[in-house]
Amino acid sequence: MIAAVAENNALGKNNELIWHLPNDFKRFKALTSGHHIIMGRKTFESFPKPLPNRTHIIITRQKEYQAEGCLVVDSIEKALEICPKDEDSYIIGGGEIYNLGLPYADKLDITRVHGDFEADAYFPEIDPKEWELVISEFNEKDEKHNYQYTFQTLVRR
Ligand SMILES: NC(=O)c1ccc[n+]([C@@H]2O[C@H](COP(=O)([O-])OP(=O)(O)OC[C@H]3O[C@@H](n4cnc5c(N)ncnc54)[C@H](OP(=O)(O)O)[C@@H]3O)[C@@H](O)[C@H]2O)c1
Repeated sequence: MIAAVAENNALGKNNELIWHLPNDFKRFKALTSGHHIIMGRKTFESFPKPLPNRTHIIITRQKEYQAEGCLVVDSIEKALEICPKDEDSYIIGGGEIYNLGLPYADKLDITRVHGDFEADAYFPEIDPKEWELVISEFNEKDEKHNYQYTFQTLVRR
């Protein structure tokens, strides 16, 4: 799974991100390009258009839902079945789908945004007994980044 997550696990509000962190977008693009990306219907609809060079798998309960060029399924299990076994696929949110996906995930690429934010979508609690932090790169605020943030990679113990 890949996510940008505040200290209080906030992810987004009113179907938008809460912050603008260009280096987080760059990391997201670098990690997910060329891969399958799994998302909830709300996260898909938060994009102005599908993301280039990625196979989108959208999870919805709506039987007739369609989106051009995207695969549509009605469960996280069906989404995971579609993904090639020999490459990294990413669950990209949002809150509901991270909750469904966490038991299946083997790696978490988290951008931890240092602050607490009011939100209506939250990342599930990461249990340090289950997840080992293997990479942690702190970044200071600068003219393009209003918050301090840390790129973290966690792997299942
Ligand atoms: N910070 C980050 O890294 C990050 C990443 C992604 C998203 N976000 C933010 O997260 C927010 C969106 O998250 P969210 O939790 O509101 O929505 P979401 O997880 O993107 O999508 C929820 C939708 O997924 C479908 N769904 C959920 N559970 C299902 C199930 N068991 N079976 C089948 N379909 C299911 C439903 O679609 P239907 O209603 O169509 O049935 C549901 O409305 C936005 O604010 C977005 O900006 C943040």
